[in-house]
Amino acid sequence: MTITTCIFDAYGTLFDVGAAARLAAGEPGQGHWAATWPALAADWRLKQLQYSWLRAITGDHCSFWQVTQDGLDWALERHGLADDAELRERLLALYWELQAYPEVPQMLATLKAAGKATAILSNGSPDMLGGAVESAGLGEMLDAVLSVEAVGIFKPAARVYDMVGQRFGCAPGQVLFVSSNGWDVAGAAAYGFRTVWVNRADEPVDRLPGRPELIRADLTDIPNLAGA
Ligand code: LAC
Repeated sequence: MTITTCIFDAYGTLFDVGAAARLAAGEPGQGHWAATWPALAADWRLKQLQYSWLRAITGDHCSFWQVTQDGLDWALERHGLADDAELRERLLALYWELQAYPEVPQMLATLKAAGKATAILSNGSPDMLGGAVESAGLGEMLDAVLSVEAVGIFKPAARVYDMVGQRFGCAPGQVLFVSSNGWDVAGAAAYGFRTVWVNRADEPVDRLPGRPELIRADLTDIPNLAGA
């Protein structure tokens, strides 16, 4: 089946969350947390995602902005930085001023030139995603920015993946779903999308029911895989 629609996860897939934080850690006067940064960042991301999955299971939905703050507060306390309000504010602000990975603008432009529909499908709340899309200058190259807030549950709930067919009127087999999150790709593959796992860190495949159809180290090959 021809791919008509290319769907992208946001954080870590199109937007380079890690680079923004590394930049902040390198700013003058940030020495007290720069050394702790890799462990703090890993704890923050893990808790942010755990809270999203747990809230999806228990039905206690809140915005991704809330789990992003809750995850950061847990991580700051774990690393003895709970009282650093300035650092908390600085790290949270990063989510609103993200850059895209370098290959993203050309990749999206090629897909658009070939007539493919392009969109983000993200846990992010509409205002967070709007800020990141604007900051990275991607607005012109995306047909839609789909947030889970429309359905009130986080990925990998099938109701989130349903939003793609509802918006674009396509069958799951016409969708190329691209994510750097192994668990997201697993959910999308089990749903019936064609999938690409962007595995920048060369990690093992998640042991979940859905398996990535294709694995790439970055996004450069996406237009080729989509037949653009
Ligand atoms: C997202 C997170 C999971 O954008 O990266 O949905």
